[in-house]
Amino acid sequence: MKKLIAPSMLAADFGNLQRDVEMVNESSADWFHIDIMDGVFVPNISYGMPVLKAIAQHSVKPLDVHLMIVDPDRYIETFGDLGADVLTVHFEACTHLHRSLQAIRQAGMKTGVAINPHTNVMLLEDVIHDIDVVLVMSVNPGFGGQAFIENTYSKVKQLKEMIVDNEAHAKIEVDGGVTDANIQKLAEAGADIFVAGSHVFNSNDPKETIQTLSDLANNY
Ligand code: DX5
Ligand code: ZN
Repeated sequence: MKKLIAPSMLAADFGNLQRDVEMVNESSADWFHIDIMDGVFVPNISYGMPVLKAIAQHSVKPLDVHLMIVDPDRYIETFGDLGADVLTVHFEACTHLHRSLQAIRQAGMKTGVAINPHTNVMLLEDVIHDIDVVLVMSVNPGFGGQAFIENTYSKVKQLKEMIVDNEAHAKIEVDGGVTDANIQKLAEAGADIFVAGSHVFNSNDPKETIQTLSDLANNY
């Protein structure tokens, strides 16, 4: 399968949101990554439904929505209605993860589960067949522009082995501090989808940066 690039709109210029959505549309990016934060699960508040709605209105690519919120079950249907294609909840924020995953499927979306840097990948083994995307956080969630945590490579390898051992179909997504310096090693370790925020939007030519990331991820 082709390795996918998902620019994180957290690093976009919100004063020029439509321009930045169109840049991603025209680029070789595969998905839009949308970070929703509640100031409780993570120590920051990003944006919510109206901004997602605005992005959805202009986007022509799948919307990968990453919920960094407590009790995400409250909003599963709402995010489905707003146009999310993949809905990712945090393992650490779900008391009844299996139920949450069923609700996401029921609402017609792909299921995602994110794990914080301290969470062991094996904790997902009992629900791995219910997950379309495992999102491995390679920084502590809450902010863009943080340094990549090196332990992520071994987590991705271990997760890949667990998925193969279980004959599951889950894809592996890495989020946080992804750049042209680590993307190939992550691809080699078994990652399939790469979120990149500041590396893309702070570059001089974001479209070219996306193209480079995609080329590197697909030729490692
Ligand atoms: C962090 C978010 C990330 C963030 C990544 O909590 O989940 O998606 O936007 O930003 P960079 O690529 O700048 O680390
Ligand atoms: Zn994210």
